[in-house]
Amino acid sequence: MAAKKKTVPFSGTKEQEEELMKVIDELKDEKGALMPILQKAQDIYGYLPYEVQKMISDQTGIPMEKIYGVTTFYSQFTLNPKGKYRISVCLGTACYVKGSGEIYNALMEKLGIEGGECTPDGKFSLDACRCVGACGLAPVMMINDEVYGRLTVDDIDGILAKYE
Ligand code: FES
Repeated sequence: MAAKKKTVPFSGTKEQEEELMKVIDELKDEKGALMPILQKAQDIYGYLPYEVQKMISDQTGIPMEKIYGVTTFYSQFTLNPKGKYRISVCLGTACYVKGSGEIYNALMEKLGIEGGECTPDGKFSLDACRCVGACGLAPVMMINDEVYGRLTVDDIDGILAKYE
């Protein structure tokens, strides 16, 4: 049986596609055009899903393997969309020694996604981050701009429920 697809379905608009085509037309004959094209594409769509990479490949003649190699190598590029609520768990040293790894694992399990992914309804995305400067509250996670500190795994359900 095929694995359940966990990513958010692609929903690019005609306007976004036209904008991308314009960018590609302007840049494609320049040397080293791939990086700026990918940056602009990410500005337009917010992330670089397969469908966008394929459009770039078709339009520029650059092979998909090369595009995929670049998008996965550079951390500035994201292949998954961010959720309406962006969860970042701090895995900096102070938080890690106080158990933020367990918080991160529990969130992956509860949300049914891996780090870097977004729930299929587009609601929550999950990432790890470095020290956010609130070590006194370790272990810490953020949801959008809200900071949650001194967390235990038992707190997670109650916090997520606030965003239902
Ligand atoms: S290590 Fe997590 S806030 Fe500093």
